Amino acid sequence: MSGIVVVGAQWGDEGKGKLVDVFAEKADMVVRYQGGANAGHTLVVNGQKTVLHLVPSGILRPDTTCVITSGVVIDVFSIRDEIKRLIAGGYLQNPKQLLISDTATIILPYHKSLDAAREAALQGGKIGTTGKGIGPAYEDRASRRAVLLGDIFDPKTLKEKLELALREKNFMLENYYKTSTFKLDELLEQLKEVAEDLAPYRAKDTSLFISKALKANKRVMFEGAQGTMLDILHGTYPFVTSSSTLSANACVSAGVGPTNIQKVIGVFKAYTTRVGSGPFPTELHDEVGQKIQADGHEFGATTGRARRCGWLDLVALKYAIRVNGITNLAMMKIDVLSGHDRIGVCTAYKINGEIVNELPTSPYELEKVEPVVEWMTGWKEDLTKVKTLSDLPRPATNFIDFVGSQLGTPIDVISVGPGREQTLWVKPLFNN
Ligand code: GDP
Ligand code: IMO
Ligand code: MG
Repeated sequence: MSGIVVVGAQWGDEGKGKLVDVFAEKADMVVRYQGGANAGHTLVVNGQKTVLHLVPSGILRPDTTCVITSGVVIDVFSIRDEIKRLIAGGYLQNPKQLLISDTATIILPYHKSLDAAREAALQGGKIGTTGKGIGPAYEDRASRRAVLLGDIFDPKTLKEKLELALREKNFMLENYYKTSTFKLDELLEQLKEVAEDLAPYRAKDTSLFISKALKANKRVMFEGAQGTMLDILHGTYPFVTSSSTLSANACVSAGVGPTNIQKVIGVFKAYTTRVGSGPFPTELHDEVGQKIQADGHEFGATTGRARRCGWLDLVALKYAIRVNGITNLAMMKIDVLSGHDRIGVCTAYKINGEIVNELPTSPYELEKVEPVVEWMTGWKEDLTKVKTLSDLPRPATNFIDFVGSQLGTPIDVISVGPGREQTLWVKPLFNN
């Protein structure tokens, strides 16, 4: 029981990367379990920023092994660049620090083209995807025609699979979407090169590797991508990503049993953001929302798009606690709320004049709810230099206490800035 899952409790970009990096100091292993290069996880060490898309956020700790499971969709060109950048930055000096599952699905250029073409065809009802080919790649997995990482090391299988895939994809791209197609020989050539670069990291059986570590009582942290409300089954469908972002999927994707999980840490911002389309009950369309966006630098780490901003939504957070089985919480970016006279917290919704405490499962209903907002006194002080909980101004402590008591789940970490050192511990996350 030494596994800990770190899961996004909102619409993504909660600060999972920072928390995992801080936490990885004490972890033996960090396992990324779903999503792909749609994720952007930002780590700030000694003022230097590293943005990771596929590589787990434990990579800046040389003694922490990082694993990518078969539940992740891997853009092989993107991960090769990410690895190169890490090595050039003085990290990942030992290839044994990173293991990538041979049975993970790979994302190829035609997945990205299809992603873009489908979004364009949606016109008014766009999802606002990151354009990284995530949906088309997971579709291929489900329809049993995916190219797996292991295939790029087996020229015969790769050629057969790609021939089959290109026949269908090129037909769709050319005839339905009226866009450019891909050539088999060129793709094979590119993949040959990439296979050489990725060979040192390939792993045949990451499930066995992770299971052995768990059995030996090693500290294994499972790092989620995206957030609860973007889950394919339990998010605001269809405005979601194409994988299950929930904590339970850490076990499914890694190939370990749920009895290995000791804690589920839900990461949330002291307010709410969302990138892309879809319902967002507490969204602010005024200068308050603009201030949060500016102070929080709320621009996507993957696409650079401005993130929509709003007050903290406790209805959605309680839902996240329920569907993930969250045992402990980490509140990020409370420093961003400095300088407001009053701070809103949504404690319930109103639908047709009636108070509702549970998140509606229909996104169209969620679109229509009116948030019930309780107001807390704000504070002017800069929190980014605060070193201990007792140094927080009284209104900030009141805000944290109010949120904690409403959620009925302990908040173990308060983050007051992007840097590793800007972390206030209420309680250590590892028990052992
Ligand atoms: P992730 O996708 O959940 O890993 O989050 P992102 O990295 O996409 O977005 C979070 C952003 O907030 C990054 O730019 C982080 O460096 C930054 N960040 C994380 N924690 C804090 C915090 O407590 N305060 C502030 N001001 N920034 C933070
Ligand atoms: P991290 O791990 C925030 C959103 C996209 C879009 C929807 C579907 O950094 O928290 P996709 O490309 O996955 O098909 O897009 O999901 N989205 C994210 N939003 N953070 C992310 O990842 C996201 N990954 C996808 O903006 O609305
Ligand atoms: Mg992000």
